[in-house]
Amino acid sequence: MTCLRYLLFSSLILSCHIASAAEPPPREVLIADLLGRMRLEEKIGQLRLISIGGEMTRERIREEIAAGRIGGTFNSVTRQDNRPMQEAALRSRLGIPLFFAYDVIHGHRTTFPIGLGLASSWDLDAIERSARIAALEASADGLDMTFAPSLDISRDPRWGRVSESFGEDPQLVSLIAARMVRGLQGTKPNDPQRIMASIKHFALYGAVEGGRDYNVVDMSALRMYQDYLPPYRAALEAGAGGVMVALNAINGVPASANAWLLRDLLRREWGFRGVVLSDHGAISELMRHGVAANGREAVRLAINAGVGMSMADDLYLEELPGLVRDGEVDEARIDEAVAAVLGAKYDLGLFHDPFLRIGRAADDPAEVNAESRLHRAAARAIARDALVLLENKGDTLPLRKGGRIALIGPLADSPVDMLGSWSASGRAEQAVTLRQGMQAALGERGKLLYARGANVTDDARVVEYLNRLNWDRPEVEQDPRSPQAMLEEALRVASQADVIVAAVGESRGMSHESSSRTRLDLPDSQQALLRALKATGKPLVLVLMNGRPLALGWEQANADAILETWYSGIEGGHAIAEVLFGEHNPAGKLPISFPRSVGQIPSHYNHLRLGRPYREGSPGNYTSQYFEAANGPLYPFGYGLSYSRFELSAPKLSATRMRAGEKIEVRATLSNAGPRAGSSVVQLYLHDEVASVIRPVKELKDFRRVKLQAGETREVRFEIDESMLRFFDANLRHVSEPGAFRVQLGLDSAQVREARFELLPPD
Ligand code: NOJ
Repeated sequence: MTCLRYLLFSSLILSCHIASAAEPPPREVLIADLLGRMRLEEKIGQLRLISIGGEMTRERIREEIAAGRIGGTFNSVTRQDNRPMQEAALRSRLGIPLFFAYDVIHGHRTTFPIGLGLASSWDLDAIERSARIAALEASADGLDMTFAPSLDISRDPRWGRVSESFGEDPQLVSLIAARMVRGLQGTKPNDPQRIMASIKHFALYGAVEGGRDYNVVDMSALRMYQDYLPPYRAALEAGAGGVMVALNAINGVPASANAWLLRDLLRREWGFRGVVLSDHGAISELMRHGVAANGREAVRLAINAGVGMSMADDLYLEELPGLVRDGEVDEARIDEAVAAVLGAKYDLGLFHDPFLRIGRAADDPAEVNAESRLHRAAARAIARDALVLLENKGDTLPLRKGGRIALIGPLADSPVDMLGSWSASGRAEQAVTLRQGMQAALGERGKLLYARGANVTDDARVVEYLNRLNWDRPEVEQDPRSPQAMLEEALRVASQADVIVAAVGESRGMSHESSSRTRLDLPDSQQALLRALKATGKPLVLVLMNGRPLALGWEQANADAILETWYSGIEGGHAIAEVLFGEHNPAGKLPISFPRSVGQIPSHYNHLRLGRPYREGSPGNYTSQYFEAANGPLYPFGYGLSYSRFELSAPKLSATRMRAGEKIEVRATLSNAGPRAGSSVVQLYLHDEVASVIRPVKELKDFRRVKLQAGETREVRFEIDESMLRFFDANLRHVSEPGAFRVQLGLDSAQVREARFELLPPD
């Protein structure tokens, strides 16, 4: 059947027959042949990526597709929806298949923890597994591409999209980037179960000024190269097929019009040949940025800069023909962009079989949301590892299964908030809440009492804002009772219990696109609830659900235990219960620092050295500090407790000198001195003592996640080679410079033990 389609490609009939009945011509031959026969309008059609569910009716969309005026779609997520569109594409003059994309960010039908949660596991295999499952499920729904992973280094928790990110560290995020791409794309060409990764948001979106979404980014080249660009590059080196361009401007030029970014860096320097997509409506936004006076100018800028497909924006369609006719855009630019789109479709196997992922109608699932389509066991296992124990005074946790437990809080029984932002096709009804998870774990062995206690917020403006977001049901359902009535009920319930578990944080819409915050503390309604619960004198365990680092000064001082759970996905309730009751020993580590207050931002651990650094214990005058508050983060990058006590020895080096080409081995012993089996993450940081440009105080280079039985000790080894000592110098050369380095080994980024070595100059 596949080859029949190539009967249309008259010049290719022969090669098609000769090659094999199932194979299209070789990639470049096919692209060149099609480009040679496409009309300008058909080429421009390939660059149009439309959102299904917008203003156009389905019928109109099919007409546009059949007329060769659409290259790909997003936001339709079933085989039944996608099949007629693909059939329409095959009716177009050249029969070029469509691709179908969607935001599959942290799972598809099965919702896994949000990005920050996945990163908290420091378990690259588990992260890859989550991506693989997402690809299996998405491809089974007829999808070919996802707009993921989000690889924006995020150091500003005010930014709502921190929740989608993997945190603040270039090395950790780069390692995750490569695994996400492998998980999504698989390793076999034409695999019906692979989907293409379109990484985003290129570039630097996480650095929007003030953490305010869509704001500008102004950044030195050194910082870009050193800290912000590596994850995107790692994903491309892992073979990511697509790149989505960021909505922000970079040093005065919007990314969507930024020829330096898209041509010089992405295409020339990095050699990327895949498809470059705009973000939603970004080309029209060039007018609002004020770099284009009208749509025609916006299109000229975008296509010449290197934006291939325009997302949800008809300006290419309207303006490109005239621009080419008038010689303002060289058709070669369009050919280059179209070749990338055709190449992506080829790599997705769509020229082999346009229905590769859509399949046959007879095989369509009867119920797309069927339980049998979910991967609950994996979701639960991954969710467990995403939980970070921040406090556990006097071994308050784990809880005994027995007695009376008061579960209180607006997030204790809120299914939609388990999912987190961008939960694709996840269904709230299929999410296990904390209340359900604890009840299931407890069974008849104890009594779980429940009260909502407070609304997420009492601020009507915020509720209105969250509910205005374009979702299919109110995001935040307010309990109509008065705050006082809810509080009284909570106190009544608490008074009957031995321990209080308070589920507090943010509703998921508070950590989302366009949900930047000026405050990082809990909303007032929840703070009032916690203060009242504290006043009961009962042990107080906080289960946090949130999509960004929060400022938890009061909570740290007053809670007996704090478990950070982010938004942990459809199996979150079970996973959290396992940790609360000690069936699972928590091992998560923060992928981002938690500042004490908004005023401390940025608070990332890998900051540059200063001429007047603040010194713990002797602040003095004229050192870099905030004088009216404690310095340093509340919880540092890499931090997380366990129910066991892990002890790490000082690092021992196999040599104290090394030349390029040689290696130094770092050894240390990790002991589990606590009462139960558990895992911890040994983190290796390096610091370059003297260099031609200022170097960070430390940089994560490697880590090992180690599981130990109670009482077990194991040696942990790392290797250091010269490539790990490289950095970008003032001329943006990636170099190492001879001199002294410190090896810093720890179970978080703040408490490290050191050793020194020297990189010798070449002979
Ligand atoms: C806008 C967002 O910025 C981007 O991340 C997303 O992929 C697109 N919308 C498509 O939904």
